Amino acid sequence: MEDDLLALLGEGAHGYFAGGAGDEITLRENEESWSRLRLAPRVLVDVAERDPSVTLLGRRRSPLLVAPMAYQKHVHPDGELASARAAARTGTGYVLSSQTTTPPADVAAALGERGGWFQLYVFGDRQVSLDLVAQARESGFEALVLTVDFPVAGWRERDKRTGFRIEHPVALNPDGPALTTEQLFAMHDPSLTWDDVAELAQVAGMPLLVKGVLRPDDAERAVDAGVAGIVVSNHGGRQLDTVLTGAQALPPVVEAVAGRADVLVDGGVRRGWDVAKALALGADAVLVGRPVLWGMATGGQDGAAAVLDQLHAELDSTLALLGVPRAEDLDTSALTGR
Ligand SMILES: Cc1cc2nc3c(=O)[nH]c(=O)nc-3n(C[C@H](O)[C@H](O)[C@H](O)COP(=O)(O)O)c2cc1C
Repeated sequence: MEDDLLALLGEGAHGYFAGGAGDEITLRENEESWSRLRLAPRVLVDVAERDPSVTLLGRRRSPLLVAPMAYQKHVHPDGELASARAAARTGTGYVLSSQTTTPPADVAAALGERGGWFQLYVFGDRQVSLDLVAQARESGFEALVLTVDFPVAGWRERDKRTGFRIEHPVALNPDGPALTTEQLFAMHDPSLTWDDVAELAQVAGMPLLVKGVLRPDDAERAVDAGVAGIVVSNHGGRQLDTVLTGAQALPPVVEAVAGRADVLVDGGVRRGWDVAKALALGADAVLVGRPVLWGMATGGQDGAAAVLDQLHAELDSTLALLGVPRAEDLDTSALTGR
């Protein structure tokens, strides 16, 4: 699989999409920490009817969302249109990266009625970010996801080795030349603080979530700043190596938030039973990243949809076999037996 992807994408893009920071310890542990958790199924429960849906930002929907991921035209020529159409087709939520290689309005059209969320980075030139917020609002995105774990880029040795360049214009720099990832990353504003989050929550004109929180005290600050949701995330192991995984960081964050905001988690979710474990630990929903890219790389929109369909089917099977037919009823007893 790894070799096939390398052949499809080439070394530079493959390193950028598959890789993580440092020794990639967190990248590996993200998957391991879900697979290490053990489930405790209840038997002889009537599971003839099952409901995987959850309530998120006040709406019933799938607990699965496609994570925001940059530069998707390097994965497949259809880029973000492929992942967005796959999400729409499979009833999966969708978060568009602000480093999109497809204009946000076109992605919104591909998402159709169900819509999607827009991920934001705050750049040194704040006007660039405000313009992106305006584009997102005008295109009909439902919520804004501010990524807060990227004051500077992680130490990504694969990219340093290959010097991977972005060949496609990005929405935040639509008329500009091709840039290296380092040039794009240097645009981020490392002086961002919680005061800026509170301000953005006021001016966003839509619900604001913060993505990249790993500590319960930061989760408290996010709630105080007025966010509607928190994404527990280590950026897919791409920022600081050896940090907490989503599975490890989630329970204390859920406890600190105490229902005052929605809590989502990502990193290393590869199977429907991983999704069930995340919900059992108190997440309201789960974001999936690289598997969607690998589906796109091999089969464009259909490949991405096959990945998302399989995750939903695995979740359905897990709910039945676990004896918890409604995803919303999952709690820690599914893991502890008590
Ligand atoms: C190639 C790639 C690009 C990414 N780009 C962004 C981005 O632009 N904004 C963002 O908030 N997160 C970005 N992320 C992080 C994802 O949103 C998500 O947190 C992570 O990929 C989840 O882990 P998983 O890939 O193991 O499922 C990116 C991840 C990958 C793999």
